[in-house]
Amino acid sequence: MRAKFDVSVGYGPRKHQISPFFSPALEGRGPGGGWASDPTYPPDQSETWPYDRGTWSKCWYDQGMGKITDLLRTRSSTRKFQPAPIPQSVLDDILEAGRLSPSGGNQQPWRFGVITEPALIAAIAHLAHHQEWMACAPLLVVLCTVFVDDAEGGRDIQIHRFPRYTAEIVSMQPDLYRALNQEEHQTKIAGTHMVLAALEHGVGSCWVSRFDVLALAELLELPPDTLPSEILVFGYPNGQQKLTPKKAQAEIVFLKS
Ligand SMILES: Cc1cc2nc3c(=O)[nH]c(=O)nc-3n(C[C@H](O)[C@H](O)[C@H](O)COP(=O)(O)O)c2cc1C
Repeated sequence: MRAKFDVSVGYGPRKHQISPFFSPALEGRGPGGGWASDPTYPPDQSETWPYDRGTWSKCWYDQGMGKITDLLRTRSSTRKFQPAPIPQSVLDDILEAGRLSPSGGNQQPWRFGVITEPALIAAIAHLAHHQEWMACAPLLVVLCTVFVDDAEGGRDIQIHRFPRYTAEIVSMQPDLYRALNQEEHQTKIAGTHMVLAALEHGVGSCWVSRFDVLALAELLELPPDTLPSEILVFGYPNGQQKLTPKKAQAEIVFLKS
């Protein structure tokens, strides 16, 4: 029978043993009933994935997995957090969700900085133009972009996307080019996966992109080829979450024939 999605699992430490996002077929494969201790997962990349991908995706919903859109309907940005720390197993899931993300040419041009030290979180909140609400969160994940060097075709993607500006892109000074073209949309994909993985465990989150990028890079002592592109703030929500209004599909979808 299909598990009914219960929104009460969406917030606060997980009350249910079995998440609706775990298939009954996978129960018992690990301590959480999920993939964590499944010896076939993560698959060795040199080997063939043990499941036929077509069958796998068809079975996902049929096997009782909750719909991802149902989970998404429970999400809104969280800015008030309980002090409870995020369990290591949940953090592992969050980071794994990021690791599995797609990226252009599978370059995986990212590093994920895990920050749990309260004094460091407070210092980062300060660099985020005094968004002091961040300081009460138990976990930040700083999504960092690693640049593809000019010599290795680092500008090619922008030249391919904006061929009319090839001359301007080629002549742009390297430091400025790096700062303005972080390919940061790539870390947004990893971050989106992380937010979903967290939500499945009842952990709320908020994206933060309003911060002093170079100051944070210095604080975290990042290497010269790496800049922070986004901060994800995670924690169990404190109090009722309000859903944020969204535009209707009719307002945002266009059909062209
Ligand atoms: C890329 C990005 C950057 C954001 N930066 C900030 C930020 O610096 N501070 C903040 O309080 N919220 C930030 N937000 C959260 C947005 O304000 C929030 O997503 C938006 O109001 C929609 O609300 P919802 O997340 O509840 O749907 C950011 C969101 C995104 C996606």
